[in-house]
Amino acid sequence: MPDRLSSVHVTDPFSLAAKAAQQLANFTKKPHHDVYVALGSGWAAAADLLPRGQDIAMDSLTGFAAPTAIGHRNTLRSLELKGRNVLFGLGRVHLYEGHGPLAVVHPIRTAVAAGCRIVVLTNACGSIRTDWPVGAPVVLADHINFTGASPMPGGNPPPPWPSRFVPLTDLYSPRLRALVRSLDPEIPEGVYVGFHGPEFETPAEVRMARAWGGDLVGMSTVLEAIAAHHMGAEVLGLSLVTNIAAGLTDTPLDADHVIEVAGKSAPRAADLLRRTLAAL
Ligand code: HPA
Repeated sequence: MPDRLSSVHVTDPFSLAAKAAQQLANFTKKPHHDVYVALGSGWAAAADLLPRGQDIAMDSLTGFAAPTAIGHRNTLRSLELKGRNVLFGLGRVHLYEGHGPLAVVHPIRTAVAAGCRIVVLTNACGSIRTDWPVGAPVVLADHINFTGASPMPGGNPPPPWPSRFVPLTDLYSPRLRALVRSLDPEIPEGVYVGFHGPEFETPAEVRMARAWGGDLVGMSTVLEAIAAHHMGAEVLGLSLVTNIAAGLTDTPLDADHVIEVAGKSAPRAADLLRRTLAAL
C-alpha cells in the first residue's frame, strides 16, 4: 500500500494515521496527546501568542501533505497546557489544494489515533448574517457539507472503527458549545456551509446557502468534523468572520482583505482560544 493519501488506492487511511501517531509519539516523547487544535486563517497567528512547544514539520509524518494556503504553516506544535498535551496544527490542507478528502482529514485521524478526545476546528469565513460584525468569532452549531466529498469515500473503516454510516446529530458537541458560551455569552452560534473552493461563492450560491439555513460560508472544517466525530472525538468549531459573504454588501470580496482582517483579529481569536483551552 502506498504511503500517500492522495492515492486512490489507499484502502486503510486509519492504519496510516496510526503510523503517523506513533511517529509523533516518538518525536515528542509523549505517548499520547489529549486535544487537537486546527488553526485556520486568522487563527494561526494565535500560535505566536502561545508558549513555545515542540515543533515538527507536518509533512515529515507519514501521509501528511504540506499546506499551501497563505498563512497556513507546515507545522505541528505539541505543548503541555494545564497538565494536558495539546497538539496544534498551525495550518491545514483544504480540499481545493487537490490532495483529496483523505489527505484533508489525515491530521485529524492522526491526532485521534494519538489519543485526542477533543478536536477544536477553527477557520475564517464569510458571514451571511449582515448583523454579525467582521472580526467576530462564531461557535458552530451545525454544518452543511456542500463540498460533494466525504472523508469515508471507500469501503467500511476497519475494526475497531464504527461503520461509515455515521450519524451526525450533535456533530458539534453541545457540551463544548455551552462551555464557550459560558465564557462569552455574546458569541453567536451559526450553521457553517462548507464549499469546495478555492473560488469564493457566487451571490446566487450565498442566497442558496441562506435559504438552506446557513449563516456562514467557508472552504474547510466540514470533512475534518465528520472524521473526528466518526472516531468518537468531541468536536468544537470556531469561525472568525472576515467578510460579509458575496453579494450581500456593496463592497466587492477581496482575498487580500480577507487575510488582512484575519490577521488583525488574531489577538481576539487567540484570547478566546486560550480561555477555551483553559476551561476544557
Ligand atoms: N467564502 C468562503 N471562504 C471564506 C470566505 C468567504 O466569503 N471568507 C473567508 N473564507
